[in-house]
Parts: sequence; structure tokens; C-alpha cells
Amino acid sequence: MSSSQEPLKRVLVTGGAGYIGSHVVFALQETRRYKVISIDNNHNSDPKALKRVAQIAKDALPEDATEQDKDSAEIDSHSCDLTQAQEVRAVFEKYGKGGIWGVIHIAAYKAVGESTEKPLLYYQNNVSATVSLLQTMGEYECFRFVYSSSATVYGTPPTIPIPETTRLQADSPYGRSKVMCENILNDLCHAEPEKWRAISLRYFNPGGAHPSGLIGEEPRGRPGNLFPLLAHMAVGRVPADLKVFGNDYPTPDGTCVRDYIHVIDLARGHLLALDALQPESKVFDNCPDEAKIKAYNLGKGKGMSVLQIVEAMRTATGFNYQYEIVGRRRGDVPDLTADPTLAEKELGFKAPQTLETMCKDLWNWQTKNPRGYED
Ligand SMILES: NC(=O)c1ccc[n+]([C@@H]2O[C@H](COP(=O)([O-])OP(=O)(O)OC[C@H]3O[C@@H](n4cnc5c(N)ncnc54)[C@H](O)[C@@H]3O)[C@@H](O)[C@H]2O)c1
Repeated sequence: MSSSQEPLKRVLVTGGAGYIGSHVVFALQETRRYKVISIDNNHNSDPKALKRVAQIAKDALPEDATEQDKDSAEIDSHSCDLTQAQEVRAVFEKYGKGGIWGVIHIAAYKAVGESTEKPLLYYQNNVSATVSLLQTMGEYECFRFVYSSSATVYGTPPTIPIPETTRLQADSPYGRSKVMCENILNDLCHAEPEKWRAISLRYFNPGGAHPSGLIGEEPRGRPGNLFPLLAHMAVGRVPADLKVFGNDYPTPDGTCVRDYIHVIDLARGHLLALDALQPESKVFDNCPDEAKIKAYNLGKGKGMSVLQIVEAMRTATGFNYQYEIVGRRRGDVPDLTADPTLAEKELGFKAPQTLETMCKDLWNWQTKNPRGYED
């Protein structure tokens, strides 16, 4: 069956070739309601990701697909650096004033440790580039914005599960770059409430991959996050010298607890955010003033410990992980579990996929692409 033939809405995805970006592009294309424009400089991604995601969309087209459906399966991909305002302007110029319906701004640097060593690089890439993107959007009369924020904005939160009303107090330059961008958006939406609508999505810990195994997470160097680290160990890409940092936290098994969410569930949350930017949406009705800005947690609302993840990956991969318990790592907090009630209530958000599916899909991606997009 072909999709209803409302004209396609052009949505610009920054960081479209990255881990989360490629899955968001998949989710957009799956609807056949959007024309995806991607901006990425491939600082941390491979352009093949976009080719593969477009292939997924083409393979899913029905036999009676219209020309418009086929168009929705193609990506307008721009190799461009967001810190270079003139490059971004050239992309907007191509579509003209009002030509881009909305922006999902995903591109950023994201390594917490690196951000403490190179704070200016992080503020330039994550904050200055966002300001300049918003300026260009304004020039080209594009006022709908979905922002990739992070649970790191909460730092060490006083309440678990974490509600959105928690004070923002990030512990690293990376986290602060996210807080700054949220604040900038807030100021902009207050300054021009008749124009702008913005939603910040505070991601918890994404894991897994598209079930086709065609796209997935491909960190450069030794993975800093648990899921890709375990996958790389099982595939023999890094030594299997797993260290668990602390087993004396006040959690059920003593190891740190995080809220892992399947990347496909996370990606589909962006569709709900776009719907919430439509004129008929009610999500801004309960804002305290006329500014149309909201922030939502995207998590499962269920914490999982390091050891639970290791065991789930052992089942999925068959790899016999051996680990050593070492001392606590500076900066780690015992539990970061989301309260996703607001996103569920106002956006209709759900994250139904299980930990087992996350591990299975990750392993499927890793075994099909042991060296990532290089293969
Ligand atoms: N992965 C996580 O665990 C996680 C958790 C919370 C929030 N986030 C946020 O989600 C977003 C995406 O994360 P990811 O895991 O997909 O990372 P990623 O590195 O895979 O994707 C980011 C993409 O942005 C691109 N990019 C970076 N700077 C750019 C620039 N100046 N111009 C153009 N493109 C640029 C990179 O090349 C990459 O393709 C980031 O904003 C990150 O802060 C990620």
C-alpha cells in the first residue's frame, strides 16, 4: 500500500551518518512522510552509513510505491561542517526560505573525558555550531527544532528515577555544552515565541542496532561505552580485559545502574517530537508562559546494572566474559535511571524493546561488520 500523498516535509538531520543519526534517518524514512536532508562532516562516522540506511528504505518500499515514496527513500546528503556557517548557509540556500520544515540537531562531540581535555573544542563544536545553525535557520524561516540532549545534563541527580524538573548541573564540559544549548534554545523561544518551537530530547543510554545489521554503532578506537566495548571484545577487536569499576555501590548487585534504551525506540521518539512541533499539537499548552519549548527524557525507566548487561551479552554472543572488579571510577554515579512519564504522557513515547533484543541486534550488527563500515 502506498503512503497518503501529503507532500513530503523536508527535515534536516545534522549528524545523520552517526550512530543515533542513522537510526533517526531510518525512522523518518520508514514513515515515507519526510524527505531527509543530512549534514555530516564524518568526523566520527562513515558516509556508507547513509547509503545503507537509504538501502533499507528502498528495500521496504511497497510494489505500488509512488514517485514520492521513492523520493522519500533517497537522502539529500551534504558533506559539511556545522562550525562553518557559510557551508551550512549553502545547504539552506539550496532549499530556499521556508524550504526546510524542521531540523533535528544530533551532531556533536560526545566524549566526556576528551571534553575535559579540550573544552574549547567542545564548546565550539557543540555550542557555537548550534548558535550558528539557529541563526541560519532564522534567516531561512525554519523555526522547528529537535535537539539531542543527554542525561548528562543532570550530573549527579538528587532523585531517582530522574524527572525533567531536576536542576541541570552537568559535571563535564560535554555535559555543560548540552546544558548551554538547552538554555540558548530556551532564551530564543522566549525572545521570539511566535516563531520558534523547540524540543530537547534527553537521551539515556542507547544500545543495539537496526535488526538488519546494516547500520550500527562504530566508535573510533577502544569503545568508551559498555555495550560496544563488550561487542568489540566478543568479536576479538579489543583485548577481553573487562574491568568493572566498583561493586560496592548502593544498587542491587553493587555495580552501577544505567537506563539502556534500544536505539530504534530512541529514534522513533524523534518522530513523536516532530509531530509535537505541528501547529495542532497540544504539548506546549501547559508551558508556564508563551514560549514553546519542552524537554523530555527518552529512557525506558528501568535501570540495568553493569553485571546484568555483561550477562545479557554473554547469552547473546556466547562469549565467556571474564571480568575483574576494580575500584570505583571518579565521576561515576550509582544510578542514572530516567523517569520517562512525561514523554509517555505528552508525546505518547514508548520504549518496548527488551535488553535481550538490544544485545541480539548489537551482536547481529557486530558479527556482520566486525570492523564496522570498513568491511
Ligand atoms: N550515544 C550516546 O550514548 C548518547 C547519549 C546521550 C546523548 N547523545 C547525543 O546524541 C548525539 C549523537 O550521538 P551519537 O552517539 O550518534 O554520536 P556519533 O559521533 O555517532 O554521531 C555524531 C555525528 O555528528 C557528526 N558531527 C560532529 N561534529 C560535526 C560538525 N561540526 N559538522 C558536521 N557533523 C558533525 C559526526 O561526524 C557524527 O556522524 C550527540 O549530540 C550526543 O551528544 C549520545
